[in-house]
This record gives sequence, C-alpha cells and structure tokens, in this order.
Amino acid sequence: MKNTIVMSVALAMTLGLTAAVTARTGTPAQAAAGDKVKGEAIYKAQKCSMCHRIGTVGAKMGPELTKVGATRNQAWLHKYLSDPKAENPKNKMPAVKVKGADLDHLVAYMLSLK
Ligand code: HEC
Repeated sequence: MKNTIVMSVALAMTLGLTAAVTARTGTPAQAAAGDKVKGEAIYKAQKCSMCHRIGTVGAKMGPELTKVGATRNQAWLHKYLSDPKAENPKNKMPAVKVKGADLDHLVAYMLSLK
C-alpha cells in the first residue's frame, strides 16, 4: 500500500504532473498505477466519446465523464470497466475491450478527470 503510493507520487513527478492527480486514488494493493496520457489515447482509440462527453467533446448517450475522477475511485472504475454488466445486467455500457496495463492507463485517465 505504502509502496503503491510512493510509486504513484514518483510517477506523477516523472510525468511532471501535480501530486493531486494520484493523491486521492484510494489505491488498492493489487491495482497498478496507470499512465493517464496513454489512457487518454486509449479512450480516443476505443471511441468512448461516441457515448460519453468530457468537457465539450463527445456525445450524451452515456453519463458525462468530465468529473468522473471526483466521484469514482480506482477500484470502482477498474471493476466497472472490466465488466460493466457485473454492476447491473441491464447496463447499456458495452464491455470495454481493454485489459491489463492498458486498463490501468484508462483508469488513470478517468481518475484525472475532476
Ligand atoms: C455505446 C455507448 C457507450 C460506449 C461506447 C461507452 N460507454 Fe461508458 N457508459 C455508457 C452508458 C449508457 C453508461 C451508464 C450505464 C448505466 O448507468 O446503466 C456508461 C457508464 C460509464 C461509466 C460509469 C460512469 C459513472 O460514474 O456512473 C464509465 C466510467 C464509463 N462508462 C466509461 C467508458 C469508457 C472509458 C468507454 C470507452 C472504453 C466507454 N464508457 C464506452 C455507454 C457507453
């Protein structure tokens, strides 16, 4: 746990980000800290904006994600994006075809939105 926080902070500094980006992730021991810049590229490649809006970009079919990092934590996002239907079988959110490190990056990007 402590190591994960130290790694997160080190990573944030390496990337020249503010520590605030990773300070409130509530990082569970098993989830690695992703890279939000890579995560943003994955978000674009996966066309998440076909349904989601961030700021002024994207559609409104799904909930707006502009501040998703302020309301959801890392563990929740990791689980949700791994299997949206586990939360609710009637969920209209399609399964995300992103796994492993790429999923960590995508979650890091979501957490940076606040
Ligand atoms: C086909 C439309 C669609 C696509 C594409 C889509 N989503 Fe969603 N997403 C939804 C819908 C609809 C919901 C709300 C589901 C519900 O609450 O029942 C949702 C919910 C979410 C949530 C939960 C928001 C919250 O706080 O409750 C996150 C996070 C999310 N999507 C991220 C993504 C990401 C990242 C991608 C791309 C990999 C993506 N979505 C692609 C439709 C989509």
